[in-house]
Formats: sequence, structure tokens, C-alpha cells
Amino acid sequence: MSGAAIAINSAISGAAYYMAIRMIPRFRDMFIKANLFGNDLCKKDKPQVPESFGVLIGCVYLVSLFLFIPIPFAFDEAAATDAVTGGKPDTFPHDKFVELIAALLSICCMIFLGFADDVLDLRWRHKLLLPTIATLPLLMVYYVNYNSTTIIMPNFARDLIGTSLNIGVLYYIFMGMLAVFCTNAINILAGINGLEVGQSVIIAGSILIFNCIELYLGHQVESHIFSIYLMLPFAATTLALWKFNKYPSQVFVGDTYCYFAGMTFAVVGILGHFSKTLLLFFLPQVLNFLYSTPQLFHFVPCPRHRLPKYDSKTDLLHISTTEFRMEELNPVGRLMVKTLQKLRLISWQARPDGLIRTNNFTLINFVLVIFGPVHERVVTQMLMAFQAVCTLIALTIRYPLANYFYAK
Ligand code: UD1
Ligand code: MG
Repeated sequence: MSGAAIAINSAISGAAYYMAIRMIPRFRDMFIKANLFGNDLCKKDKPQVPESFGVLIGCVYLVSLFLFIPIPFAFDEAAATDAVTGGKPDTFPHDKFVELIAALLSICCMIFLGFADDVLDLRWRHKLLLPTIATLPLLMVYYVNYNSTTIIMPNFARDLIGTSLNIGVLYYIFMGMLAVFCTNAINILAGINGLEVGQSVIIAGSILIFNCIELYLGHQVESHIFSIYLMLPFAATTLALWKFNKYPSQVFVGDTYCYFAGMTFAVVGILGHFSKTLLLFFLPQVLNFLYSTPQLFHFVPCPRHRLPKYDSKTDLLHISTTEFRMEELNPVGRLMVKTLQKLRLISWQARPDGLIRTNNFTLINFVLVIFGPVHERVVTQMLMAFQAVCTLIALTIRYPLANYFYAK
């Protein structure tokens, strides 16, 4: 009877979308009054835009799911029998119930910590710590419900290692790191109107398509239905936010939204048992993270903002740059920079006095290195199109290739 629960979930999601599009404009002035705003750096007069609307969207999402909590159990035969007859208490699916509650607890915790980051502007090391803390309820439930830490080996490794390998505590570390990655990866692929939300819409859509394919194939049905329960309201509220965050932004989403989105993806990936497939849907974020590593780990100077530079005369975005001298970098930094230069992955301007100027190492700047100055709206569209193409690549890897590598 999960069909009925999905139908109710869709109706709640529709209502959440409607609520969100009505609430967002009404809260704009309230956010500005509370000093929650940022300057839109890629516009002529750098207008003030209310920021941290992730907190509003996160609340609408949580309320929707709080209302939905009893629904899957109302349609669960064992749970219904238990409730009506007061019969055997062990027929109620406590494991499923606690899974849903813990998922919401982790997401709620992440929204709260993300909002704290927006208000207090935390340091980068805290940004890594926050998602780790927020995943603890989730990992605890995973431990109690499954504690399955065995991974299936691909064909070519089976002679050496066997069909499967129990990696124990490493599995929990992987899941904790997945949450850290998902939250921060969305946050650092940001800085132009609509990009944080745009990428999240496409990832959410990709997950929903994947869930539907798996349901059709009859694989791990319960896990994918659980993922749909969380993803439909997420997609609905995110679409509402997109309406106001796309170019030209009327509201900014803040780190709250990036954390909320990343954590929701990590939760469905972990509890839906498709964390590796989830990472495939994060291909642009993985590329942006790898490209960013020289600056993230301070091998190359990293300015506070790496978003592109706005040219008010042409209304186009140009690359933003960082400057350094080769002798100032340590050997690892020098190697990284030289390799990127040889592969022509960065712009390179060397002045006679030895000062070197390159673009900031982000995917947004990379698009501008390749295509030259482009309008802000178009850069977002290009990156969203790339995200959609990556979904097709991900599904190609997931199905034909995985069948080949993992065929029995
Ligand atoms: C991350 C990036 C930073 C990027 C910033 C933009 C890293 C290590 N950090 O920092 O390089 O500049 O996101 O979000 O990669 N803004 C706009 N237009 C937009 C969105 C944001 O101008 O469409 C500006 C606004 O001034 C806004 C600010 O960016 O107030 C938000 O930045 P914040 O989210 O605090 O930056 P970080 O997440 O720390
Ligand atoms: Mg941010």
C-alpha cells in the first residue's frame, strides 16, 4: 500500500511548494531587518539581497515531513493490525519508524548548524565538523538497524579478496565523510545566481529517477520508497526556492540551504543503501572539489570569495584571479600549479617580476577560461546542463557497467 503513501506524500509536497512560494516574498523584508542579507557581487550596484532562505525552506520541508510521519505506518498492514487490535506489539515496524525519525533529526540538526554558520560566519574547520556531528543520529540508527559494513567486490578483485569484504568501522567513517562531502561540495560550487539551488534540483531529480528505475526492477523496494518519501518534498520546496533564487536573485539561500540539501542527499544515500550511486550524481561537485584542492588546502592563496568578476560595462562575468610567486609556494603547491598549467586547465599570466596570475580554481571560473566572458544567467545554465549530462553518464555507469563488473 506504499502507492497510497506516495500519493499522500506528493499531495503534501504540492502543498509545501504552494506554501513556500507564498512565504518567501513575505519574509524578504523581515530577513533584511534582521541583518540577514548579502550583496549580490555580480551586479552593477551590488544590491542587498536577503540571505539564508534555506532556513525558511528547511522549516517548510520539516513541517511537511512531520505531517507525513504517521502515513507510511497507517498503510502498513502489520502496523495497522497492531494499532487496531492492540495485538502483538512486535508487529509494529519500529526499525522503519526510528529510521524516519533519525533521518529528520539529522536534517533538522544540519539546518540548525547551517543557520548558525550563516549568522556567525564560522571558520572552514568548523564547516567540516558540523556535518559530522549532524550525521551521528543517522549512523547510530544504521548501526542498530543494519550494521552491515560489507562491500561487494567487483569481478576482477574477487580472486584476490573474495566476493565481499567487511570493512567494519571504515564503513562508518565513509558514511560520515559522505555527509561532510555532500554539504560542502554544494557550498563551494556557488557564487552565481541560482547555482546552489539549480544543482540541487537536478541531483534530486536524478535520485528520484534512479529510485523509480530501481522500483521498476524490484530492487530493495523499501529503501527506494523511503528515499522517495524524503526526496519529493525536498524537490518541491527546492523548486519553490529556485523561483526566487534564479537570475536575477530576489533571495539568497545561504549556507543553511547548502547544508540542508547536502545532508538530505547524504541521508537518502546512506539509509537507501545507494551511497556510491549518489556520488556518481555528484560528478560536477567531485570535479569542482578536485580542481579546488590546491586552494582549499592552501597550497595556493585562496581569497575569501572565488566567484567570478563582474564587468559592469558589458554585464558579463570574467574569471576572478589569484596571485602568487612560484618561490612562495611549497613543493607540492608548485607541482600542482605546474601540472594544471601543462594540462591547460588554468589561465596563466606571468609578469616579468615573477608574479603569476591564474584564475581561482573553481568549475565556474573554468567555464569562463574555456568560453571567455559569459553572462551570469548563461553560466548557471551551462553548469546545470553539465550536471544533467553527468546524470546520464552516472546512469550509464550505474547500469551497463555495474552489471558488467558485478555480474555473478
Ligand atoms: C563559498 C566559496 C566562495 C564563494 C562563495 C559564494 C570556497 C572555498 N568558498 O564560500 O569562494 O565566493 O561560496 O557563495 O569555494 N553571492 C553572490 N551571488 C550569488 C550567491 C552568493 O554575490 O548568487 C555572494 C553574496 O555576497 C553572499 C555571499 O556570496 O552574501 C555568500 O557567501 P558564503 O556562502 O558566505 O560563502 P562561503 O560558503 O563561505
Ligand atoms: Mg555558502
